[in-house]
Amino acid sequence: MTKIKATNITWHEGHVSRDEREGLLKQKGVTIWFTGLSGSGKSTFAYTAEHALVQRGHLAYVLDGDNIRHGLNKNLGFSAEDREENIRRIGEVAKLFADTGVITMTSFISPYVKDRDIVRKLHEAASLPFVEIFVDTPIAVCEERDPKGLYKKARAGEIKGFTGIDDPYEAPPKPELTISAEKTTPQEGALAVIEYLESKGLLPTLAE
Ligand code: ADX
Repeated sequence: MTKIKATNITWHEGHVSRDEREGLLKQKGVTIWFTGLSGSGKSTFAYTAEHALVQRGHLAYVLDGDNIRHGLNKNLGFSAEDREENIRRIGEVAKLFADTGVITMTSFISPYVKDRDIVRKLHEAASLPFVEIFVDTPIAVCEERDPKGLYKKARAGEIKGFTGIDDPYEAPPKPELTISAEKTTPQEGALAVIEYLESKGLLPTLAE
């Protein structure tokens, strides 16, 4: 649990509404949360969707686990507590991005249901749409792909507490979308994201 240390602080309301920002960008702010094992294809799907959205004239941005751990979250490791803090921070950052009107995509293993649900509730409380996408690529396929050679290291005992090997991954019970690198190409995955956003009125269809 996060210890609250910030005291004597006051919320300051701005003069520009989310509606105005969204009007400016001609789109709706949303957080699209990709969760799944390392090597499952989360980042590939997210970056392909980002590219496709930008080509359609929308402002989209990916917050990627490995990248964020180079900066903002470089002081966090892979214990359950550090993963919780990793997800808490990114949940807050994604909420801020979505509030600006950006189509925000996050690519984090985010192995715990509880931590992801906290982020969902955070968005609900701010009336921001939250779309959870389960990248359900079987571990055997992730391990076969092993793009960073980390499964090999984990199997050799060189990395302890590796998700799916000797650390848990809790699949989402009710994700808005499920895709898999085994069955879906990056382009098909990006299209599934765009169609989902259109179906929920979060993105104008091309004809509009
Ligand atoms: S999370 O569990 O806290 O959500 P996050 O998505 O930020 O993880 O980072 C996962 C990435 O860190 C993996 O894709 C992999 O490249 C790297 N990594 C290093 N150590 C581990 C580990 N013990 N478990 C999982 N991923 C790890």
